[in-house]
Amino acid sequence: MKILVVGGAGYIGAHMVKWLARAGHEVIVLDNLSTGHRDAARYGSLVEGDLADEWLLDSLFKDNQFDAVMHFAAFSLVGESMVDPGKYYRNNVAATLNLLDAMVRHGVRHFVFSSTAATFGSPQSERITEAHPQQPINPYGQSKLMVERLLEDYDRAHGLKSTCLRYFNAAGADPEGELGESHNPETHLIPLVLQVASGRRDRISVFGDDYDTPDGSCIRDYIHVQDLCDAHLKALDWMRLSERSGRFNLGNGKGFSVFEVIDSVRRVTEHSIPYEVTDRRRGDPARLVADAAFAQEVLGWQTKYSDVDTMVAHAWWWEKNSIVI
Ligand code: UFG
Repeated sequence: MKILVVGGAGYIGAHMVKWLARAGHEVIVLDNLSTGHRDAARYGSLVEGDLADEWLLDSLFKDNQFDAVMHFAAFSLVGESMVDPGKYYRNNVAATLNLLDAMVRHGVRHFVFSSTAATFGSPQSERITEAHPQQPINPYGQSKLMVERLLEDYDRAHGLKSTCLRYFNAAGADPEGELGESHNPETHLIPLVLQVASGRRDRISVFGDDYDTPDGSCIRDYIHVQDLCDAHLKALDWMRLSERSGRFNLGNGKGFSVFEVIDSVRRVTEHSIPYEVTDRRRGDPARLVADAAFAQEVLGWQTKYSDVDTMVAHAWWWEKNSIVI
């Protein structure tokens, strides 16, 4: 297939581009490099540009007969979305509309969308299935839910088939050590704890140890980026075969607390990890764990790297060996 990967220079997008190239597909990456890295997109052909540029989109779709589009480009910091919602709605919703309209104009009918567990809001059950109510509590989650909803309308009106993949906490790195996570600023737990291990940071702040969880810290469902890539390609194949749209939760089904992640980093890196317990972070639910049975059943998807030490080991290799690009 010939696939357009929007946001293919970012963390998850770049791993996807490599995964698709390895599977023998031709990949064009569209990325404005606002947060992505030019070098990370090297397994595809990079077109530097923005979804706001309709002329660019038209010429891209005219020059290439794409079989499908995967869309990873979005702002994804919950805290930032609370203080600057317009940035999130403009980029995550309005720009996505430009992309969808270009697809409709050029007759491209298969779309894989990066959605998020943040569309669910505060969890009302131990594990979150696709049937869980979607009531986001921040503009980031709201922006992703808006796209999920408008995709239903685009299916009805234009026959545009989509799969929305709701990631829980993406983690880990390319097992071959060629790609990894590098955000600036970094806000995610695993890379931050690894920066403590490598000496780039003094200590990690644990945001609250008084939650109603066994050790008092928040529990999250960390899912290896390679397992996410596997799910994307399976979702695309399923969508093309069934000619249906679908919504899937992608997680490990296992939760790990902040203290368990810190312990894992200690085990894997053999470094001490100083920490301090600070106030809770606003908007953090105590526990967020996926029920991914639907994706397993429908897509035939099974996680390969569900062990947190493996995720940490892959991310540690990247932290030690990558030059910051
Ligand atoms: N945490 C700390 N200290 C830190 C950073 C994080 O204790 O310095 C804790 C958080 O409180 C949370 C856990 O580690 O309990 C994981 O936090 P991350 O910031 O790594 O990830 P989030 O769970 O906040 O966010 C992730 C994605 C979001 C998505 C959300 C869905 O990064 O894009 O899951 O719930 F919206």
